[in-house]
Amino acid sequence: MRNLRIGVPSKGRLSELASDLLKQAGLSFRRQNRSLFARVREIPVDITFLRTDDIPVLCAEGAIDMGITGSDLVTESEVDVETRLHLGVGKCRLAVCVPEDSDLNKASDLDGTRVASTFPRTTERYLAEHDAKAHLVKLSGSVEIMIALGVADAIVDLVETGSTLAANRLRILDEIGNYETVLIQNSSCAQAELADRVVRRLEGVVIARSYSLLEYNLPRERLAEAELITPGFNSPTVNPLEDQDWCAVRVMVLHKDVIRVMEELEALGASAILETKIGNCRL
Ligand code: PRP
Repeated sequence: MRNLRIGVPSKGRLSELASDLLKQAGLSFRRQNRSLFARVREIPVDITFLRTDDIPVLCAEGAIDMGITGSDLVTESEVDVETRLHLGVGKCRLAVCVPEDSDLNKASDLDGTRVASTFPRTTERYLAEHDAKAHLVKLSGSVEIMIALGVADAIVDLVETGSTLAANRLRILDEIGNYETVLIQNSSCAQAELADRVVRRLEGVVIARSYSLLEYNLPRERLAEAELITPGFNSPTVNPLEDQDWCAVRVMVLHKDVIRVMEELEALGASAILETKIGNCRL
């Protein structure tokens, strides 16, 4: 049986994110001189470097078994693939944007206008849902300058930090959806077991990247309250201390919540509160 093929973006922001994730998950490979192919050292997996927007369709066609791409591109391609994992990176919004001083304020105002986008299908669906008949200008890039060029009255584009909008004096009229980088799989992948192994490996890294391990000592009588603050991924680990009125708690906490949680635990009477970064995990 041939090796499992994973399609990875060949260039752009996602390319580095995807390679880092795979390597942290123990799928290490070396890409030589912009080559389009690399073999993973430890398990029978081949990495194919592809255009990010071709990955959904190539996965649906079976040219690759799995792929790392944006969920925006999966939606836009309208193909039948299975989303196995949200990778917690590349988060962005697809938004309808208009000039800061535009009279257009809601979706129905787009009726009779010209809308430019690299996401024609998603845009068409959005316009149809809002009963707006607009002239769609289908492009493959640089959408943000199309209003200044006089090609469009509004654009549908990805917004991450909002810098591109600010630089082009545009504002958001409406948001169409939230997207992020995902791991997809061909619906009839012949190597289901190996694919599951890849999913488990990447899942370990994704969870490790978003959680910290928090350890603290606590008067035992406050344990029930502490468990409300730190319920843990499954449940906290509680160990006795020499002083029987106290216990030691070990629990996973989302990175973004760690500071708030530490303050709440301290107020509850916890001491020796330590945060440790997790490199990888299996839960
Ligand atoms: C995307 C998107 C916007 C920009 C938004 O382009 O098309 O132009 O990022 O990000 P921001 O809100 O942080 O400014 P990208 O850089 O991916 O290149 P592209 O033009 O090839 O899509």
